Amino acid sequence: MAGFDDPAFYGDRWAEVYDERDAGLDPAAVEFLAGLSGGGPVLELAIGTGRVALPLANRGITVEGVDASQAMVDRLRAKPGGPSIPVTIGDMAQVPVRGPFRLVYLVFNSLFGLLDQARQAGCFASVARVLEPGGAFAIECFVPDVARFDRGQRAETLAVTEDSATLRLSRHDAVQQRITMQIVTMDEHGMHLRPLALRYAWPSELDLMAAQAGLQLTERYAGWARQPFDAASAQHVSVYQRT
Ligand SMILES: C[S@@+](CC[C@H](N)C(=O)[O-])C[C@H]1O[C@@H](n2cnc3c(N)ncnc32)[C@H](O)[C@@H]1O
Repeated sequence: MAGFDDPAFYGDRWAEVYDERDAGLDPAAVEFLAGLSGGGPVLELAIGTGRVALPLANRGITVEGVDASQAMVDRLRAKPGGPSIPVTIGDMAQVPVRGPFRLVYLVFNSLFGLLDQARQAGCFASVARVLEPGGAFAIECFVPDVARFDRGQRAETLAVTEDSATLRLSRHDAVQQRITMQIVTMDEHGMHLRPLALRYAWPSELDLMAAQAGLQLTERYAGWARQPFDAASAQHVSVYQRT
């Protein structure tokens, strides 16, 4: 696999700037996941630089991870506590670990990094295989908003300073449910490209993939603080249970 279809592509291209761009974490996310963990063991798919896993591990919860990108995991390893979290380099569509886990979680829209329906459904099936009976799979995803795109494209100015400008240039394929984008920064050093591709799915499609894997939706909120989910919600936190 090459380019966007390579599971390591995103992480390898973003690792050096990931923490400075995406460092924020809602403390309610850690509370929420800790509450589901039963003390562990828990598995984070797409663990990345440990933004969520490290605070969970600091609470005494046994956490391990899977990620496709060695460059992202190297960033995790360089942080306090990072070396003690076991991480398997591999594809989250196949969940290359044995388990069983009390909780598996996949946050920050990372499920949508699997770029076709079959790979997303495969992820649900693989998660079901490593969950203990009654165990939970928690995901955090945006709710698609295709009205953002005008005839399949969108250009946004994300930042302008005295020395730089940052643009996000996106293409939308409504048939593939795929958004392909470049975040382009122009500064005195030249032009820098950060590529990203997503295959989005509505909550109903995710629920169907889960059900086909033997996972039942038990909770859905608009955020980690359990805000009510409704038709106006821009994101969801959903919990599926292995029956
Ligand atoms: C947006 S980051 C999220 C990282 C972390 N979960 C967080 O919340 O900060 C997405 C992560 O997914 C990983 N990733 C992308 N595709 C993957 C795949 N097919 N299998 C495993 N990891 C993958 C990337 O390497 C990256 O670390």
